[in-house]
Amino acid sequence: MAVCLSGPVCRGLPVARMPRQDSGLAKKLFIKTYGCQMNVYDSARMADVLAPIGYEPVSSVEGADMVILNTCHIREKAAEKVYSELGRIRRLKEERAAGGDRMVVAVAGCVAQAEGEEMLRRAPCVDIVLGPQTYHRLPEMVARVHRAGGGRVLDTDFPVEPKFDALPGEAAPQGATSFLTIQEGCDKFCTFCVVPYTRGAEFSRPAEQILEEARRQVAAGAREITLLGQNVNAYHGVAPGGGEWGLGRLIRALAEIEGLSRIRYTTSHPNDVDEELIAAHRDADALMPYLHLPVQSGSDRVLSAMNRRHRGDDYRRIVERLREARPDLALSSDFIVGFPGETDRDFEETMRLVRDVGYAQAYSFKYSPRPGTPAALQPNQVPEEVKAERLAELQNLLAEQQRRFNEGTVGATMPVLLERHGRLPGQLVGRSPYMQSVHVTADDDLLGTIVPVTVVRATPNGLAGRVSGAAPASAQAGLREGSAV
Ligand code: SAH
Ligand code: SF4
Ligand code: F3S
Repeated sequence: MAVCLSGPVCRGLPVARMPRQDSGLAKKLFIKTYGCQMNVYDSARMADVLAPIGYEPVSSVEGADMVILNTCHIREKAAEKVYSELGRIRRLKEERAAGGDRMVVAVAGCVAQAEGEEMLRRAPCVDIVLGPQTYHRLPEMVARVHRAGGGRVLDTDFPVEPKFDALPGEAAPQGATSFLTIQEGCDKFCTFCVVPYTRGAEFSRPAEQILEEARRQVAAGAREITLLGQNVNAYHGVAPGGGEWGLGRLIRALAEIEGLSRIRYTTSHPNDVDEELIAAHRDADALMPYLHLPVQSGSDRVLSAMNRRHRGDDYRRIVERLREARPDLALSSDFIVGFPGETDRDFEETMRLVRDVGYAQAYSFKYSPRPGTPAALQPNQVPEEVKAERLAELQNLLAEQQRRFNEGTVGATMPVLLERHGRLPGQLVGRSPYMQSVHVTADDDLLGTIVPVTVVRATPNGLAGRVSGAAPASAQAGLREGSAV
């Protein structure tokens, strides 16, 4: 799909948005991040914990003193990429060693967690293998590698000390849009998914810790915060005065932070959408009218085999209630085609659900059997060519819906948060409230601000617009109601 900031995609991005210039003194740290936004957040935090011991992020692997691959295990292809990247890194490490320099290579994230010792065995160039729950201990691990005769380190525990308490309070600024992890892990055990094994049990951060981090991010320039969790709406953190807050309540508290104009959250599970969250979509202006709510399949039979614990109609009902609360809500989803035993009829049910709901954008994948998950052991695997056909058919429909949604916004004036430079000179790129990327010609000093933009045309990758003088009345100004459908 065209617009691709959220969702479980391979994003080979270095952590630093603005890598510092080489000061000649600092050690150079290159981080390559794969997978979901939680990995993007984790990469930024790894850079934070390594800063006090002299590491500065750089945007190129050449000449790096330390390389971290922050990996994703969600599908086979994602995991394979890590080993091919390690081949390239091994050659660079050897070249450096020949010149008398050392390059420390660490593999973090979900492949590291899943493979552990196997990774040390398969990839001799790797010095450190660490899981998503132990990166606050990175400075110790690096020290161990550097010690005389320093060995290799494996740290994939689920430690008793909560990681978030041990992370440094001061985090490097992430820019006008930033990520904030509020919840980790998953107890749902969908039969296709590795996350409960790689990230461990569900855990919610205390609300006060989240509010503090949000205030710091806003003070550092964030105008938009995306709250992250593998199951973000299962959030149930300790409330500031005792008791417990759900996600809806937390969003209301965050919405009161001065200077925080936009709040988003991802990824949610349909079964954890409660009344308070629906009310937040109705009442909290800062909560953007866009929701990534994965359904995976439209077939009740497949949903049950996936252990999703809801039917297609339950999902339709949840969407209906959310749209009653926020009529212009734009929806996104994840879909898996070719789950074991999926028939043509099951697939038709998915197509029917997509037509019924109407998506502004979506991600869709061929089922990929993952070692250790129950679905991988099922005998009735769907042939590759059938998966490919279904995926193409589904993606055609989703692309058509995305095109219609984007075209429905032409002529509207919307507030756009300008986030970065575009490819053309003088071009800036930002996001509409509905997560569409919007290209405008504008002065650099508008970067990091929210400006009214009149949409001039829909392009294959988003929208082209013109910064307009008058401020729009609301996020949905000029939009036709229900234009997502
Ligand atoms: N917690 C989220 C999803 C996290 S994984 C949820 O419950 O929806 C991100 C997406 O990757 C999933 O929504 C699913 O569509 C896809 N995915 C996960 N495991 C997969 C597998 N084995 N094969 C193909 N796609 C998979
Ligand atoms: Fe994976 Fe299901 Fe948990 Fe989502 S809810 S992370 S798909 S097990
Ligand atoms: Fe991938 Fe782990 Fe995220 S498997 S999608 S990096 S939680």
